Amino acid sequence: GVAWGADIELAKKSTIEDILKRGELRVGFEAGYMPFEMTDKKGNFVGFDVDMAKEMAKAMGVKFVPINTAWDGIIPSLITGKFDIIMSGMTVTQERNLKINFADPYIIMGQTILLNKKHEGAVKSYKDLNDPKFIVTSKLGTTGEQAVKRHIPKCTYKSFETETEAFLEVANGKADAYVYDQANCVVLMAQQGEGKVVFLDKPFTYEPLAWAVRKGDPDFLNWLDNFLRQMKNDGRYERIYNKWIKS
Ligand code: ARG
Repeated sequence: GVAWGADIELAKKSTIEDILKRGELRVGFEAGYMPFEMTDKKGNFVGFDVDMAKEMAKAMGVKFVPINTAWDGIIPSLITGKFDIIMSGMTVTQERNLKINFADPYIIMGQTILLNKKHEGAVKSYKDLNDPKFIVTSKLGTTGEQAVKRHIPKCTYKSFETETEAFLEVANGKADAYVYDQANCVVLMAQQGEGKVVFLDKPFTYEPLAWAVRKGDPDFLNWLDNFLRQMKNDGRYERIYNKWIKS
């Protein structure tokens, strides 16, 4: 009865205890998604999520351990315990949320378009791309891909393993439009877009990005939400945001 239920509750451990015991916060992400997680020239992982993860480890008093993982296996890897948390610019979708839990969103994002320059003026929004003559690219298993299938169902969709490949296909004229998270399009436009693509920068989806943890761990979620609120109000969040995102 009641006593038995209470014993079960007491026996349940939070991931927090594992992290503290291990002395390591193992963070799963897929590098390649600028400006959230990428590899610099020396081979170090850098970006918005990486800086947040370092602050998180510091606040816990443990070592930050990055674990680079393929995007298509990132949720199963979290569930099977390959790492403690996903910090990888992941959009909270209702479908993902059936399998994992999300902390409060740390940024709001939406899908935008990098359009090959030859269509400048003729294509003004995602609606104008809804025709089989247009080849639209995005990355496999992302909300970019989902947005194309849902909102531009008649286009010819071409899926890529990485953001960079999907973007380059459009930049070199083999495809017409790249659909992806706004912050990523901002960076690609600034670094490699000049003279090749035009940026349709008005987001056409609503996408909160959040850190994900295994189900059944309210203690960890509580810690994460309080940590995020603290970061947002003591200037650390703003400093990291300005470094990677503010353009
Ligand atoms: N926000 C998008 C999604 O959740 C893209 C995230 C891609 N992240 C990455 N590290 N490659 O589907």
